[in-house]
Amino acid sequence: MTLYSVFELTNLYGAHPFYLAMEEGGTGTAHGFFLLNSNAMDVALQPGPAITWRTIGGILDFYVFLGPDPASVIGQYLEVVGYPTMPVYWALGYHLCRWGYGSSNATWDVVKNMRNYGIPQDVQWNDIDYMDRSLDFTFDPAVFSTLPDMVKDLHSHGQRYVMMLDPGISSVQPEGEYWPYDEGLRRGVFINHTDGSTLIGKVWPGLTAFPDFSDDVTHEWWYDNLKRFHDKVPFDGLWIDMNEPSSFVDGSTVGCPDTELENPPYTPGILGGLLRAKTLCASSVQKTSSHYNMHSLYGLLEAKASACALKRMLGKRAFVISRSTFPSQGQYSGHWLGDNRSHWKDMYTSIAGMLTFNLLGVPLVGADVCGFSDQTEEELCVRWTQLGAFYPFTRNHNSIDQKPQDPPAFSPLARSAMKQSLLLRYSLFPLLYTLFHRAHTHGHTVARPLLFEFPKDVRTYGIDRQFLWGKSLMVTPVLDPGVDFVVGYFPQGLWYDYYTVRTQLYI
Ligand code: NOJ
Repeated sequence: MTLYSVFELTNLYGAHPFYLAMEEGGTGTAHGFFLLNSNAMDVALQPGPAITWRTIGGILDFYVFLGPDPASVIGQYLEVVGYPTMPVYWALGYHLCRWGYGSSNATWDVVKNMRNYGIPQDVQWNDIDYMDRSLDFTFDPAVFSTLPDMVKDLHSHGQRYVMMLDPGISSVQPEGEYWPYDEGLRRGVFINHTDGSTLIGKVWPGLTAFPDFSDDVTHEWWYDNLKRFHDKVPFDGLWIDMNEPSSFVDGSTVGCPDTELENPPYTPGILGGLLRAKTLCASSVQKTSSHYNMHSLYGLLEAKASACALKRMLGKRAFVISRSTFPSQGQYSGHWLGDNRSHWKDMYTSIAGMLTFNLLGVPLVGADVCGFSDQTEEELCVRWTQLGAFYPFTRNHNSIDQKPQDPPAFSPLARSAMKQSLLLRYSLFPLLYTLFHRAHTHGHTVARPLLFEFPKDVRTYGIDRQFLWGKSLMVTPVLDPGVDFVVGYFPQGLWYDYYTVRTQLYI
């Protein structure tokens, strides 16, 4: 499945040329299909039982998975792309984040407030605003001067710290003042134009060069940068963003050459209608191949470099959350579903997103709880925290200029509802951790659609408002405003009410 928005019919953050299909007749049989190809492509569903794949390059490396049941199809697919990594235990905890805390002290206050209210929190995050002028591997000496102290305090409370890194490296700092760029140039780690000059795009810090993560030399340079920064701020995990890679200009600041790679005879349905739209020139040069061939692999290779560096540096399982993904991603990182809005509809569609990434071998996944852009409201945020307590990865994240939406920001009633749902999640860690281990060792899903356990029950096929953890914990969340009950579907079997332990037989 190419991850595009059904509303805009354009590409999103990642590409996964795989589908899982239930066969007709209610026999419960399924098959899967995978085209291992990183080039830009369209996948068009035909009116009949047919699908058309249209790729503009690469190798036609097809896999067919015969199941016969849907869970076996996924197991077979994951044998090809690799089983997901085993997450560190703290990854299961509650994560708090926002863009625009404004200072390390304001971030720290949120952590202290959470402690005061006894709301569980394992991980505090920072977005780009911790950086000095949005430069990777720096922190703002004025407003984030207490960042190292905050991280020490987190550690002394058994909590963890994760911060953002973007791939774009500022290219305009005075020589000798910004090691990541100077050293990157010296080692030749950046993506070049065909004439050998460094490709310059534009991201948060202004003009930037882009590391070529297809080159081992770049992995070493990335490790060195992380190590130097870790000596100042002992972070525990990494959030890698904007790694499609995303740029505010098309191609580069000087455009792109007029070649066939830039203007192929056919361009799949892409935002802006050009391969270079809001990214790098397709003709630009990476160690392994042209960006035309490598574009969709950027997030995967950055995640690999980041996970390997963290493991080497900390001697522990790495925690990395990536925006861009490609098949095999789960071996190196988890994923958040990207920029959603604080709308009830976005909360509802997050279930399908979470289940999709479980099918794709990236079970450590969740959406921005309470919504990213637009102002959230208390009822929505409570319901979303209750649903988010059952995302395999649960993080509340908010956009800049929106009011705070961490649990202490709400009324005592809302706060205590959020706390209860998080405590419920924490009480289920043994189950959740076991499910991650099964995913890691057997290619299972953690959160899964009902049809995986009841493939012969065709009524489960369209269910996208309920899901399972493993085989038998069913979650039926409230997804609408103003209601205090839900209508759910119980497939045939003996079901227990988790809270009352009363049984109900459905036949
Ligand atoms: C885009 C990311 O998707 C979002 O989560 C983040 O807050 C902004 N970049 C700012 O870094």
